[in-house]
Amino acid sequence: MGAFVGRRAEVAEITALLDRVRLVTLSGSGGVGKSRLGLEIAGKAAPGTAAIVDVAAVDGPEALAPAVTGALGGSDVSLLVLDTCEALIDQVASLVSELLAADPRLRVLAISRQSLAVSGEHLRVLAGLPGAEACTLLAALSGVWLPEVCDRLDGLPLAIELAAVRLRTMSPADVLTGLDDRFGLLVDDSRGPSRHRALATCIGWSHRLCTVGERLLWARASVFAGEFDLEAATYVCQDDELGVEDMADVIAGLVDKSVLLRRQTPAGVRFRMLEGLREFGAGWLALLGQQDAVRLRHRDFRLRLARRAVGRPRPPGPC
Ligand SMILES: Nc1ncnc2c1ncn2[C@@H]1O[C@H](COP(=O)(O)OP(=O)(O)OP(=O)(O)O)[C@@H](O)[C@H]1O
Ligand SMILES: [Mg+2]
Repeated sequence: MGAFVGRRAEVAEITALLDRVRLVTLSGSGGVGKSRLGLEIAGKAAPGTAAIVDVAAVDGPEALAPAVTGALGGSDVSLLVLDTCEALIDQVASLVSELLAADPRLRVLAISRQSLAVSGEHLRVLAGLPGAEACTLLAALSGVWLPEVCDRLDGLPLAIELAAVRLRTMSPADVLTGLDDRFGLLVDDSRGPSRHRALATCIGWSHRLCTVGERLLWARASVFAGEFDLEAATYVCQDDELGVEDMADVIAGLVDKSVLLRRQTPAGVRFRMLEGLREFGAGWLALLGQQDAVRLRHRDFRLRLARRAVGRPRPPGPC
């Protein structure tokens, strides 16, 4: 494992939060660095007081409680880190509620692409590494400083690691061009866990967690190049399969599963997808054969917006 880069503010904030509250969920897209950050935080606890269980490594729902009680072991553990909770989200949610009720000293750091949705949960969503830190990570792994590559990868540490493998044999310029097919480029069979051997597999793990409606919206919303709001999503993405009345819930589901990023702006709430997730959705849209229909609705929506803007009176001020 390479050196830990950046995230000082996040380590400090979550460590402090765990002093005040009993359940923190660290969420965010696949490969964004949740587990690595969780390890770093657990490493700062006094020796013998933190236990880590990777839920994805547990052998089925029945094995979860024994694995966790085994790790707690009746000892001095006061911080339980449960990693990859989305693998058994319902079972983790009820087990965490029981454990917190049973032991008033216990604190839980849940690491999950999806929230636990239990009372007392404090959710923190981790974003990709900011520009300079992303470049530092890529430079540490490859020896080259490539802001453009890091930018195209949304600062996602997993994608940066996979790009670094390519930089062993390819020039920076070829890697940059190769990113036009990011799923073909970002593959490395030699690493673990298995879902991290390719960017596409990492994103596919989130796809498996989604409902049919969420998958449809994910595919259709890939036509938005940047941010969009509920009105735009409803106009462009709804049909008989995905009703207007379901749209807000389906969007909320995708936000909860870290597929959509949500941002509050003065003009209202806006959503967007990381580039890799968007391209994955676009691939599904093509497979579904719905590309043309959705693109047409998107064009139509933009025309309506433009007409609306033209019809609006000019704001007062100098011409
Ligand atoms: N701050 C960092 N410094 C150095 N390496 C990092 C950092 N964050 C993440 N990485 C590396 O990037 C890879 C992906 O990170 P990590 O496994 O933490 O992602 P994740 O968000 O837990 O993904 P998943 O949702 O699939 O579990 C790992 O190999 C990890 O070591
Ligand atoms: Mg993880």
